[in-house]
Amino acid sequence: MRLDRYLCQTTDLTRSQARSIIRGGRVSVGGAPVTQPASQVDVQAEVTLDDSLLSPPLPRYFMLNKPLGVVCATRDPSQRTVLDLFDVPKRNALHIAGRLDIDSTGLVLVTDDGQWSHRITAPSNHCPKTYRVTLAEPLTAEQVSGLGAGLLLKGESKPTKPATIEKVSELVLLLTITEGRYHQVKRMFAALGNRVVALHRLSIGGLSLDQSLVPGGYRSLKRQEIELL
Ligand code: URA
Repeated sequence: MRLDRYLCQTTDLTRSQARSIIRGGRVSVGGAPVTQPASQVDVQAEVTLDDSLLSPPLPRYFMLNKPLGVVCATRDPSQRTVLDLFDVPKRNALHIAGRLDIDSTGLVLVTDDGQWSHRITAPSNHCPKTYRVTLAEPLTAEQVSGLGAGLLLKGESKPTKPATIEKVSELVLLLTITEGRYHQVKRMFAALGNRVVALHRLSIGGLSLDQSLVPGGYRSLKRQEIELL
């Protein structure tokens, strides 16, 4: 991690304050002063500011039960964002590992560990995501086979990867997909002539939404949950 970032994560300094303090020679790594804000520092290294030892920044991992009407963005000039729901220090260091639409609900992962979130969102990792989908029209056998075979979405040339479906009722199903294209679930059903009226994410990889979380509620992930992904 860059030294200026390390300082921002372990103190209340802004990035520009951190840079000028580092340039001023007040920060040492492993006992030696370092004056380059861009120097790389190991998170395990002993870093001092004016001789006080800084505690290493620990990456944080949360699951959120996203409510309706909140945008999956870190900042938005006019709408409430998922980060606005978090009452934690250094909230602006957090980011979202896989977005949901404003009118979708359910599991959203939030972290400040970029490598972890990349593993979840990188298309090459094909991380499965399961959604409870409520449809406007009853699901037909042709639609089930279309989803299983892969569909050509409007404006795209490559079909979707086969999805798995578990029918819950005429209008409700559990759908698992291994991609994360723009508005993918809604567009898949639009391609089949149906329409999604409610979309709730239940799981990402092996991690399921904690059913005790009310909409807008969040909690830290346990060690074994972080490792699942
Ligand atoms: N697919 C969608 O269409 N919307 C979401 O929010 C997630 C997946």
